[in-house]
Amino acid sequence: MSFTADRLLLFGATGDLSQRMLLPSLAALSADELLRDDLKIVGTARSSLSDNEFRNFAREALEKFLPPDRRGGLADFLNRLSYQQLDATTLDGYADLAAKVGEPKQGLAIFLSTAPSLFGPTIKGLQHAGLTGENVRMCLEKPLGTDLSTSCDINDAVAGAFPEDRIFRIDHYLGKETVQNLLALRFANILFEPIWNCNYIDHVQITVAETVGLEGRVAFYDDAGALRDMVQNHMLQLLALVAMEPPTSFDATAVRDEKVKALRALRRVATGETVTGQYRAGAVNGAAVPGYDEELGKDSDTETFVAIKAHVDNWRWKGVPFYLRTGKRMPERVTEIIVHFRPVPHSIFAGQKKGGGGATMQPNKLVIGIQPEENISLSLMAKVPGLDREGIRLRPVPLDIAMPDAFSGAVRRIAYERLLLDLIEGDQTLFVRRDEVEAQWNWIDAIREEWGSEELKPKTYTAGTWGPSAAIALAERDGVSWHE
Ligand code: BG6
Repeated sequence: MSFTADRLLLFGATGDLSQRMLLPSLAALSADELLRDDLKIVGTARSSLSDNEFRNFAREALEKFLPPDRRGGLADFLNRLSYQQLDATTLDGYADLAAKVGEPKQGLAIFLSTAPSLFGPTIKGLQHAGLTGENVRMCLEKPLGTDLSTSCDINDAVAGAFPEDRIFRIDHYLGKETVQNLLALRFANILFEPIWNCNYIDHVQITVAETVGLEGRVAFYDDAGALRDMVQNHMLQLLALVAMEPPTSFDATAVRDEKVKALRALRRVATGETVTGQYRAGAVNGAAVPGYDEELGKDSDTETFVAIKAHVDNWRWKGVPFYLRTGKRMPERVTEIIVHFRPVPHSIFAGQKKGGGGATMQPNKLVIGIQPEENISLSLMAKVPGLDREGIRLRPVPLDIAMPDAFSGAVRRIAYERLLLDLIEGDQTLFVRRDEVEAQWNWIDAIREEWGSEELKPKTYTAGTWGPSAAIALAERDGVSWHE
């Protein structure tokens, strides 16, 4: 059913995500007049707060996490907010919550940003209070389980109250501008698609490197690890967007149908195709930082770094490895996708250098920078200027598009702004469908099974480096160097 919600109910309203992302994104949308005037936002959480206390809480969050030039119309935004205290585990408080939400004119969007253990009881409570009707959408924030089976439990519980076309699973990477730009690059240009396959692409690298460590999320992170925290969701979504076949339109079903096919084509990872690591004390950005075990206060076998050589088993990607790596406490924060093309079949410049050798050729490389900078760069071979008495010399030069320069007037938005607006308006294209989540878990579970049977323990790496040396070897065995 198509409607623009005029009520938004935020579970976990006093939590970290709400402070850092949700309230700032909603305030920014409100300031830009992108929310309907009558949209009311009800926050709920365990703490007991009055409406005014919640508004003060929100004001403080915005002062901390929203740039001053995006805080226009703050009073109007704060006026949209109200709050209802709730113990989500018992049915008692849900009637009061429903009363606070009131009767929407068109519809209600619910955002669950709580511990997954609360998803089941929350759905029951919402059903009990009549908050799951046809004009209600449900948005779920990760983690959606810890493996396929627990993810199915969550999805079953939600499916008991909401059909799939009213369930919105967030992967905030899909809200990032350059991630969507990947689709524009591939499918709005004639240049790339004809060569986007194993005949012309040698391999693909996807790196998501972070400089941060545990950030106080001790219990959550130690139970999750890099594979489940980053690869299962964000990195596999990036991989799916690179690997998928062209959808027939930019529509939720068409795009997700193609992504899920790519995810299902992922080959089970073999022994020796993954490397895990855990950081030890070192220095990041010139500042000394403690090791993971020190931050945690105990020994642990949780990986804070993982590198994987993946394969997509279909005609398009036959024999093209996808090298994935992600880690905490890396030397810099960078998310990028690198597409390495094959060398030219024959070099006409081979005989050029007097005395032998010839001009050196390097294969073309497409670098899609997602963060911190949004830019797309294609390295092309060019002739070095000169009279070439010693023979023609060639060098790779980048053809660069810095997105912020190309679109200088455009506002840089938080990924959640786009996703929250899509939720309110009911567009599922950038949300993850159940079959995608399950294909992702299927592949991840097999990796964890492999690690279990090999009793693999993470290798240590010094904070501020690119992970254990074995990760470098994983690529170099194939003659590939990680892009740095
Ligand atoms: C989250 C992970 O999903 O993504 C965090 O749980 C990680 O561990 C974060 O830091 C990274 O997001 P971004 O947008 O900063 O790259």
